[in-house]
Amino acid sequence: VDVLMAIRERRSIRKYTDQPVPKELLETLLDAARWAPTASNQQRWRFLVVTNRPTRELIRKCSPGIFVGPPVYVVVCAEEIPNAGEWDRKTYLADCSVAAQNMMLAAHALGLGSCVILSYSPTAIQEILDLPESIRPVLVVTLGYPAEDPEPPARRALQEIVFEEEYGREWLK
Ligand SMILES: Cc1cc2nc3c(=O)[nH]c(=O)nc-3n(C[C@H](O)[C@H](O)[C@H](O)COP(=O)(O)O)c2cc1C
Repeated sequence: VDVLMAIRERRSIRKYTDQPVPKELLETLLDAARWAPTASNQQRWRFLVVTNRPTRELIRKCSPGIFVGPPVYVVVCAEEIPNAGEWDRKTYLADCSVAAQNMMLAAHALGLGSCVILSYSPTAIQEILDLPESIRPVLVVTLGYPAEDPEPPARRALQEIVFEEEYGREWLK
């Protein structure tokens, strides 16, 4: 799949079939995540792949942003440095977000659906997955074979969001 097509066609999928996702496909997604850029190439993301049903059920219960349980969760975490400050946390958020987008575009290219989830409880996930103190959940990506084909939600026009040289000056082609 062409990358521009994948960017346009990817949708957030919130309904999945029960079909399990082969491990090789998950590996392809995780490899795509690994090739994402990170601040100073620190690569502090850690990816927890959860397919086990009881754990998935627990994750869904503590995540108001997840309506229907998917067959796979990838919990994208950051391995925090000791005494991590605001700057470090900012880089973890950016690094994990960029990796998640790589994963979701790769998922789309492989015929899978995905959705990034921020409405979840990091403290509950920390406990459910028995994560060490230094491993902090940043966001969750749901994955599986799509059971819906949503219409693309509208996007703002470029003229509304792009400016030329100074804020407010229209960007003209
Ligand atoms: C940072 C972030 C957090 C999100 N959190 C949730 C969430 O908790 N639950 C959910 O169903 N979708 C979530 N989404 C998906 C957005 O609702 C979705 O990307 C947006 O509506 C545009 O739809 P599209 O992805 O199909 O283009 C999140 C997206 C982003 C980027």
